[in-house]
Amino acid sequence: MKALILSGGKGTRLRPVTYSTAKQLVPVANRPILYYVIDNVVEAGIRDVGIVISPETGDEVKRAVEMYKTREVRFTFILQEAPLGIAHAAGISRDFIGEDPFVLYLGDNLIGSGIKKFKEKFEKDRPDALILVKEVDEPRHFGVVTFDEEGNVTRLVEKPKFPPSSFALVGVYFFSPVIFEEIDRLKPSWRGELEITEAIQGLVDSGKRVIAEYLDTWWLDTGKKDDILEANRVVLDEWIKRDIQGKIDERSIISGRVKVEKGALIENSEVRGPAVVGSGAVVKNSFVGPYTSIGNFSHIENSELQFSVVLDGAEIRDTRGLDSSIIGKRSRISGKNDRRIRLFVGDDSVVEF
Ligand code: TTP
Repeated sequence: MKALILSGGKGTRLRPVTYSTAKQLVPVANRPILYYVIDNVVEAGIRDVGIVISPETGDEVKRAVEMYKTREVRFTFILQEAPLGIAHAAGISRDFIGEDPFVLYLGDNLIGSGIKKFKEKFEKDRPDALILVKEVDEPRHFGVVTFDEEGNVTRLVEKPKFPPSSFALVGVYFFSPVIFEEIDRLKPSWRGELEITEAIQGLVDSGKRVIAEYLDTWWLDTGKKDDILEANRVVLDEWIKRDIQGKIDERSIISGRVKVEKGALIENSEVRGPAVVGSGAVVKNSFVGPYTSIGNFSHIENSELQFSVVLDGAEIRDTRGLDSSIIGKRSRISGKNDRRIRLFVGDDSVVEF
């Protein structure tokens, strides 16, 4: 089996960060989202991985994948000239897939489990498609799936105004190459994209076997700012263990599950877990509260923040009350502030209070 990871797209809902970075490379607990996706694919035993990239962010994605470093896996990059839809991205990857079954994995989707058991189910039952579904509160933001009384998939609709069920389609799909026949038949939807939901509907309509598995762990589709903060919260909560590699002076308190990476320096500060402080970062005379990720080589001084994501090389000085914020790479936040503030700042920005 092969894997096809989609790491193109526009990421408009995550601007301004995505003006300068690929959405899939935004870090969650200091690791790009894409790395968690690759982890799951590799852990399932897949060794042949295609990655769809865009002209704007493709080089950055390639560099990040090269840094992931794993000898056992072969990566093939496939350039999608324009973000014409998930089914379009799959369609242009046909030569890479050949006659093999494959898992199509959206590069911005995080799930709380591996995908091995779904891969095994797909290989054992040999349907034409195996989809994952999850009940959600707001199905109108997703592809929505309906079932008959026997649990067979009957209908898939993309982002319906009036959702016919609360089962959303998770961004991990297993397909046999038969899916390409349906993709070939697609016309662009109202939003100008070739929709994978319509291709799967095509399989259902032509009597092919589509089975659904319920995902019983969490699932996060990291499209918007609060999704990133929520993903950061969940990943820190579930996967971060106490691990102190950096230097902590005797005036500092590190409480709970905190990961302080090599080369980080914490002076006269409190860091309360779950939290992570990246390599080369400096935290001085500050309070770093729970659910916070401090990127590599960031500098936090005389400041207080919690529930936030600070990207690499950012500086925060003399600023208190930062909460639920995302601070872009190399941005500088400074100045006295007594209120609780929430910032969403892109890369290389300057905010002075
Ligand atoms: P989306 O989140 O649906 O689209 P997007 O990334 O363009 O974001 P926005 O709606 O905010 O503008 O995409 C899901 C995943 O699939 C994401 O990882 C990007 C990827 N993708 C492609 O690789 N090619 C495409 O043509 C599209 C639409 C998405």
